[in-house]
Amino acid sequence: MTDTTTPTNTQEWFYPSEEVLQGAIIKDYDALYKRSMDDLEGFWAEQAETLDWYKKWDTVLDDSNAPFYKWFVGGKTNIAMNALDRHVKTYRRNKLALIWEGEAGDQRTYSYYRLWQEVNKFGNVLRSMGVRKGDRVTIYMGRVPELIIAMMACAKIGAVHSVVYGGFSEQALADRIEDAQSRVLVTQDGSWLRGNIVDLKKVADEAVKRSAVVEHVIVYKRTGHNVMMEADRDYWWHDLMALPIASTKCETEVMDAEDPLFILYTSGTTGKPKGILHTHGGYAVYTSTTLKWVFDLKDDDRFWCAADPGWITGHSYIVYAPAILGVTSFMYEGAPTHPYPDRWWKMVEYYGINVMYTAPTAIRGLMRFGSTWPNRRDLSSLRLLGSVGEPINPEAWKWYFDVIGKGKCPIMDTWWQTETGGFMITPMPSVGLKPGSATRPFPGIDVDVVGEDGKPVKAGEDGLLVVKRPWPGMLRTVYGDPERYKNQYWGKFKNLYLAGDSARKDEDGYIWVIGRIDDVIKVSGYRLGTAEVESGLVSHPAVAEAAAIGLPDELKGNIIYAYCILREGNQPSPQLEDALKNHIRHEVGPIAVPAHIEFVKQLPKTRSGKIMRRVLKARALGQPEGDVSTLEE
Ligand code: WTA
Repeated sequence: MTDTTTPTNTQEWFYPSEEVLQGAIIKDYDALYKRSMDDLEGFWAEQAETLDWYKKWDTVLDDSNAPFYKWFVGGKTNIAMNALDRHVKTYRRNKLALIWEGEAGDQRTYSYYRLWQEVNKFGNVLRSMGVRKGDRVTIYMGRVPELIIAMMACAKIGAVHSVVYGGFSEQALADRIEDAQSRVLVTQDGSWLRGNIVDLKKVADEAVKRSAVVEHVIVYKRTGHNVMMEADRDYWWHDLMALPIASTKCETEVMDAEDPLFILYTSGTTGKPKGILHTHGGYAVYTSTTLKWVFDLKDDDRFWCAADPGWITGHSYIVYAPAILGVTSFMYEGAPTHPYPDRWWKMVEYYGINVMYTAPTAIRGLMRFGSTWPNRRDLSSLRLLGSVGEPINPEAWKWYFDVIGKGKCPIMDTWWQTETGGFMITPMPSVGLKPGSATRPFPGIDVDVVGEDGKPVKAGEDGLLVVKRPWPGMLRTVYGDPERYKNQYWGKFKNLYLAGDSARKDEDGYIWVIGRIDDVIKVSGYRLGTAEVESGLVSHPAVAEAAAIGLPDELKGNIIYAYCILREGNQPSPQLEDALKNHIRHEVGPIAVPAHIEFVKQLPKTRSGKIMRRVLKARALGQPEGDVSTLEE
């Protein structure tokens, strides 16, 4: 135990076992943290040295145009060079980069050498379609290796990928294609989920109809069901990869450290999704350092991040950071309970997974089926566990710790965001844990909890979570909207990054994240804006006005509850409720479907016409409505 804080009697503490402590890369968190704060730039430069650079940087941090910070300025690199090119020159060329299992039980493995070749081939395909450095490519796929190949191929040739999660539907996809102005879309015929086909190509066709910018669609064949292929627009992945142009040698584009790597759309307070922009240099340094220290990855480990590559967790910790570190990453295509609720545990046993990283909602979902399912499997290969996406409730923590980790695997509860690129507040294996707390900031990360005045609140008091100094993995801007970046994250307090979460710091300096302070809802760990649900609803001809709120749910964390005012001539009915849910399923996606829609005559609004969701929420929960002096009626 190297953590020097004194345990309090108020919370239960968990200390790492001797085995975990011995293997821990970072044994003295406090000393490292102090060092990083005393010399922030020196600290990050040292981490950057662990990567390869075509040309070393001139300046570690350029803050001359804050909040548009720049990292490793003057440095030349490419994340694909660090993730692939450098490994094929060492013994790692024969090491597994990826182990993949399809929902039906089919398996594929990729050595670093083979992954590198596939990426090269697809990079050449993209180049042959006219994709050049800086061009945007939208990727709309399921959890298949080709998704990773497509992402890395973009990086390799300097194109900017925008991955849209396969659970989004027509309009959501069209909006994201439009915003990024992608001329090329990479998709697949369908993906498998619970034994059914998710018809991705059909959604893609509709989205392309709504957004005329797409010129070429590349379709990976996965399910083999019949799909429409438009001549001169749609091409099969396997046909293109068989062409002579798809050679296994592809020159890596030399990128500036600050050149964009990807755009990932996420929800904010308005209906228009924000394109969060990350870069080649800082993002590579940040994701690889965080993964290495928090999950203590060893060369012979098998690491499973069970997220979807379509979200930031997958971008950072399935695709890029494991490959930069030369780790073996595992990915599974389908549903956790298919065909039985022990599917995940069966794979942990079969593949001998050492470190597993998932979300509280998934843990709660599997916990429902009882302990018999995991108990029937040998989970003894597990050494560390991780959690992300929302605060983990004590019951889920206990179950994960006792039943899955057999009381010997510390749980790394990592707090971070699409915007932060990687873990921000997180334990490390050698740090004492308090279940439900993401514990302490990562070295180099200066966080605090402040009041409305921007001053730190007292220990134990609720406040706003802020980051006080820039970090290499931070978003650089909102794509095409620098003003939004400035206002949203740096507008409330000058020089403090506003995370949008409320939190509390206890006497030991441990941070407890409470939840969002804005109109963002976390449904089963997925981030959604109330405004996206609302604009989906009002796009239906029967709906005049809509409001959506998140209400607590034991399984999903939050569920969506919607209120609609109907247009003249429409009557409330269960059929209409179903029709609206179906409409949302198509327009936004299954994850945005409200659990319940209530038809109302009026919505609580301020005099300026803003819907007071706070009031709706209080009413739905039977709580006092608080200050309603600004309410109109
Ligand atoms: C929430 C996911 C508590 C938080 C990586 C944050 C968490 C939002 C945790 C970002 C955690 C994420 N404990 N809350 N360990 N991790 N959150 O962009 O509200 O999908 O602001 O990134 O998830 O969600 P996003």
